[in-house]
This record gives sequence, C-alpha cells and structure tokens, in this order.
Amino acid sequence: MNIKFKTLEWKNNQLILLDQRKLPAQEIYHTYQTYQEVGLAIKDMVVRGAPAIGVAAGYAMALAALKSEDLLQAATYLKSMRPTAVNLAWAVERILKLRSKNPQDILNAAKAIEAEDVEMCKLMGKWGADLIENGKTYLTHCNAGALATAGQGTALSVFYEAKRQGKTFQVISSETRPYLQGARLTCWELSTTLITDNMVAHLMKLGKIHGVFVGSDRIAANGDVANKIGTYGVATLAKAHAIPFYAVAPTSTIDLKTPSGEHIIIEERPPEEVTHLHGIPIAPAEINVFNYSFDVTPHELVSAIITEKGVAKKPFSEKLRGWLK
Ligand code: MRU
Repeated sequence: MNIKFKTLEWKNNQLILLDQRKLPAQEIYHTYQTYQEVGLAIKDMVVRGAPAIGVAAGYAMALAALKSEDLLQAATYLKSMRPTAVNLAWAVERILKLRSKNPQDILNAAKAIEAEDVEMCKLMGKWGADLIENGKTYLTHCNAGALATAGQGTALSVFYEAKRQGKTFQVISSETRPYLQGARLTCWELSTTLITDNMVAHLMKLGKIHGVFVGSDRIAANGDVANKIGTYGVATLAKAHAIPFYAVAPTSTIDLKTPSGEHIIIEERPPEEVTHLHGIPIAPAEINVFNYSFDVTPHELVSAIITEKGVAKKPFSEKLRGWLK
C-alpha cells in the first residue's frame, strides 16, 4: 500500500508531525525539538492513535536524551499526556528499561519501535484480510489507519491488504463524534462511505453491514477492548444483529497488568470538543458536558482479536498471555 503522507518522521535530530487537527482541509507538518513540545502535541492531538503516540513518545525520549534532560522526569511527563492508550507508556517504559542515558542508544530504541510498528501493521493486515469477503461491506469507527500508526494502520491495514489481494468490498466509516476522526481522517486516507454515528443500528438492521473492524487503545488481560467512544455501542449492535466484531491491534496494545476493562482509566477531554464545531458553539454556553474519549467493549462482544501474531478467538486470556511470553 502506497501511503501518500508521513504521520511522523525523524529527521536531523528533530521530530516532524503531520498536524491531524487540520485535516482534511490542510496538510501541515510541524517540527519538534523538545520532549515537552512533543508531549503537548500528543495531548492536543496533533498526533493521535495509540501506536502513533507510542512512536512519537519514543522519539520524545530521544529528544530528552539529546538535551541531557532527566529521562525519568520526561517519561512521567509524557505518560501523563494521554492515559488510556497503553502504547504511550509501553514505549516510554521500554526506553527506561535500557538504563542508558546515551542519546544514540535511546534513538536506536525509538527507531526500532517505529520499524516494528511498520512491520506489525503489515502482519495485522495480512491476518485480517483473510476475514474479508468479496461483495461485503465493513464498518470501521474512529481512525485506525496510517494516521494512527507509523505504518499502514491496524483496522485499516486489513482493508489495505485485502485490496492489495484484489478483493472487492466496501468500507463504511462512522463520523466519530465529537472529534470526527472517522469523517476527517479515515475518509481522507481511505476514501470510505461516511455515515453519522447514529446510523449504525439502521444500516445493520437493513443488512448493509457484514462485519466491523476497529483498532484499540488498550486490551486488558481478559480481552476487554478499550477504544474510541462509541465502539461499545457499535459492538453491542453488532452482537444484536449477529455481525462479527473484530479488534485489530499490535501486541504492544495488550496490557496484561490490567486484568479487565473496568481497571482502564478512561480519558476525559475538554467540554469544548462537544459544545463547539470548528470554534462555533452548537450548545448553550456553560452547559454541563460529559466528554469521555474512550469506552470499553466487554470481551463477550468481541468475535476475535487480531494482532501481528495471528487471530485469537475466545477464550482470549490464554492466547494473549502466550503472545506476550
Ligand atoms: O483519541 P484518538 O484519536 O487518539 O483515538 C484513537 C483510537 O481510538 C483508535 O481507534 C486507536 O488508537 C487505535 S489506532 C490504530
């Protein structure tokens, strides 16, 4: 698959990020020289998607090392930027485990995290593509594509790979309120059919959706899947209509230290993301708002978990544990 943009790039000891806040209207790249700047870019969603923020955090640690800054402090700061996606903490901790302050060691580790992510994306795509059937239509939620990883994505990698194999099928993307990752990002990178989030039940009832593929921000040891807010609703609807629901994520998203979904911290984001669209108010000022950015799909609703290592069916725990040995 030929991706025509670079979500992130390490060049001349600086990190370059595609500003995803501006898509699809503008394709703008920013250059970062400090770990603090990269941390803020993660928090503000310049870069987003669990694997991509893990890779960005790896390079942020390299920036800290190049400036001889306190790596433990940098790690704590970076991990606090977004709490749900475990890939962020995973990448930072992998670098701390090196027990080295040598910038070249840390840069090599950050580059390895990026290279592995690219490879894992391809493998997930290959495993998942086996599940794609000609003539069918698949739903995806949020953006789990090249914009969310260093490679060709997780859930979207399945579609890229199936297309490469010559399969013919349709992809529907739900818009993903409030941040509109589906509308702004998935439709931009993959040119899918766009629907509003609240059309899913209707389309499933009409028999127009034959499978669901989503990414994940953290998979608990029992197979519960944290992903973008709305995913749990989609999974519940899929179950009600006997439609398979697949979570696609690298093993770096599996968190065996979290026994089940109820232990996953769910990020809450600023109310303005709900009350405003492009700065224009769409709700009365001062209204009370919930803005949970993720939800947890219980493993009972998940047909299979696809990683770079293969396809896990229920019961998940043993397979997930085996993969991480
Ligand atoms: O808030 P975001 O845009 O970072 O949320 C992203 C998601 O929920 C993705 O589905 C998930 O990170 C998997 S991306 C391969």
